[in-house]
Amino acid sequence: MVEILKLINVHKIYRTGDFEIHALKGINLSVDKGEFLTITGPSGSGKTTLLNLIAGLDKPTIGEVYFKNFLLNNMSDDELAYLRLNEIGFIFQSFNLVPWLTALENVMLPMLIAGKSREERKSRGIELLNLVGLEERMDHKPIELSGGEQQRVAIARALANNPSIILADEPTGNLDSKSGKMVLDLLNEISRKKEVTVILVTHDLELAKSSRKILRMRDGTLLEDSWKTES
Ligand SMILES: Nc1ncnc2c1ncn2[C@@H]1O[C@H](COP(=O)(O)OP(=O)(O)OP(=O)(O)O)[C@@H](O)[C@H]1O
Ligand SMILES: [Mg+2]
Repeated sequence: MVEILKLINVHKIYRTGDFEIHALKGINLSVDKGEFLTITGPSGSGKTTLLNLIAGLDKPTIGEVYFKNFLLNNMSDDELAYLRLNEIGFIFQSFNLVPWLTALENVMLPMLIAGKSREERKSRGIELLNLVGLEERMDHKPIELSGGEQQRVAIARALANNPSIILADEPTGNLDSKSGKMVLDLLNEISRKKEVTVILVTHDLELAKSSRKILRMRDGTLLEDSWKTES
């Protein structure tokens, strides 16, 4: 197993005025390439904070975050931006597609930012929409797509620059259970077939059960009694 992510004694303390919130309290975590990891836990337990640190969107107050053996704490903003563009795919609860762009243009956007040629952007964009079963909708704007379809476009977009890890924060939160399951199945398939690591945050324990490895957060800590289902 190749370790892709490692967190050592990570703390995050938010300070607003003289008010302090200890959002993460000593997280230790090791994630392997191709692993599908689900994180659950009550609102405010620190799940999004944890994803933000993994994505280099924020820095830990104490502790170390390693991505592919690179210490994120020491990276410059430019290096972190490069990492996010090329190594990390994001999927959000609210899809976050650009409303005035078509499905295909949305998927092509990260490749444009990464400086890929138009031909490459287009052919890979179509290939990815094909992968999520939406190539017939490629000219549709987000408003012309259902929630589940928009989230599948967002998955295709997250894969655009061939990331090694996908971070999904409540990706099924705005979907009915059937679309939610479809999105989950798709993420599972992608992680298996493409050896992409997926870290999924969800409140939905029913959906979480499909994951091989589940970690539970409570009040800024990862509970030790996390478990694996038989697979
Ligand atoms: N930028 C911030 N400034 C100050 N406090 C923050 C900030 N972001 C989060 N917090 C606090 O840190 C704690 C953890 O928040 P976080 O968003 O990580 O929780 P969560 O587990 O993702 O919750 P939810 O399930 O509701 O999304 C909460 O008490 C929250 O109020
Ligand atoms: Mg959250």
